[in-house]
Amino acid sequence: MIAAYPGSFDPITNGHLDIIERSAQLYSEVLVLVAVNSTKNPAFSLEERVDMIERAVRGRNLHNVRVESFTVGLLVDYAERSGAQVIIKGLRAVSDFEYEFQMALLNRNLKPSVETIFLATAAEYSWLSSSVVKEIARLGGDIGGMVPLEVLKDVKSRFAGDWATAGAQLVERV
Ligand code: PNS
Repeated sequence: MIAAYPGSFDPITNGHLDIIERSAQLYSEVLVLVAVNSTKNPAFSLEERVDMIERAVRGRNLHNVRVESFTVGLLVDYAERSGAQVIIKGLRAVSDFEYEFQMALLNRNLKPSVETIFLATAAEYSWLSSSVVKEIARLGGDIGGMVPLEVLKDVKSRFAGDWATAGAQLVERV
């Protein structure tokens, strides 16, 4: 059975990677779908996000995982066209539940043949999100252990400028 794992992945975190690895054990093929979330303003382009996930996946020999992006149309339609019968969502906390539950019901309403399956996040990543990673990187904090090693440099260098500017402003004020 093919499972689609959709998200913004802006950037991929170790929490996402944990869900990908566990899904790859459960399904014959996992299709990681990098999608546009119309409510978010991404830090990385779709191509960059796909490339970062591909590098992280390659580093772990996950042979049944593919990465694609999609920009047009509904997730359920893309999933169906790709042969996926299942959409995987990771749940970190009760706070994720309300939104994800609504999305699951909405997607089932749109396409009853595609089921949503929730996987509980690994406890050590329950606080981790792409937003947290970006905020810490922007403020010059250590994001080691939060994102796959293969993408650490990409994330650090994307926000290094912000941190340097903030530092210079601080020096100017002192
Ligand atoms: O990682 P995110 O930002 O929580 O992922 C949300 C995502 C990309 C899975 C969601 O926005 C999505 O499914 N977008 C595709 C368009 C779609 O089908 N939307 C659902 C109907 S409103």
